[in-house]
Amino acid sequence: MSLTLAFDVYGTLIDTQGVVSQLEAWIGDRASGFSQCWREKQLEYSFRRGLMNEYKNFASCTRDALEYCCQSQAVDLSEAQKQALLACYARLPVFADVKQGLEALQAQGHHLYAFSNGTAEAVDGLLSHAGVRDYFLDIVSVDEIATFKPDPATYRHFLRRSSSKAEQSWLISSNPFDVIGARNFGLQAAWVKRSDGAVFDPWGVEPVVTVSGIPQLAAYLK
Ligand code: 2OP
Repeated sequence: MSLTLAFDVYGTLIDTQGVVSQLEAWIGDRASGFSQCWREKQLEYSFRRGLMNEYKNFASCTRDALEYCCQSQAVDLSEAQKQALLACYARLPVFADVKQGLEALQAQGHHLYAFSNGTAEAVDGLLSHAGVRDYFLDIVSVDEIATFKPDPATYRHFLRRSSSKAEQSWLISSNPFDVIGARNFGLQAAWVKRSDGAVFDPWGVEPVVTVSGIPQLAAYLK
């Protein structure tokens, strides 16, 4: 049976580690901690804006989070360096397993979508640059309804945009908040555990399956 598969993008398909390499050139061994602060604050800003109903797009949350981390970590980056880091976000690589996994899932007859906090334009550019845009039937962005994951409205929006039913739809994400949000809304969901140390929130809401990469998901859905 063909399924509708909604792929989260940043951290699931796209490896944000590429930003760390650029940061290491400027701030050395502080880069990893800075990058983690940046990702956490970027997501925090999206959660807060969603709850406040004070929407600004994900690129704005990313930019504001970068500014926060420069101040909180006392890292002095020039405007040109900040712009270079933000440009880095627009051309990050996919994880090594992604193309093989998407190929297998497409061959199984499933309907693949990108489903992201990023704007459709940003995600289209990112996936095109990474060479995987053509695997996806469409890109569904939360920007279309001016809120963020895990607002239930985002999963409802995805089902409407993909003309799918929750029972036949899977959310695939490395972000536990996204997996829990999707399960809470009634979708199937796979957690892509991209690092051994990754911890799933102890909420008692579990993914249907935990995989180490996209090929393992294809093997599970076969
Ligand atoms: C996304 O791509 C936030 O990583 C998440 O929507």
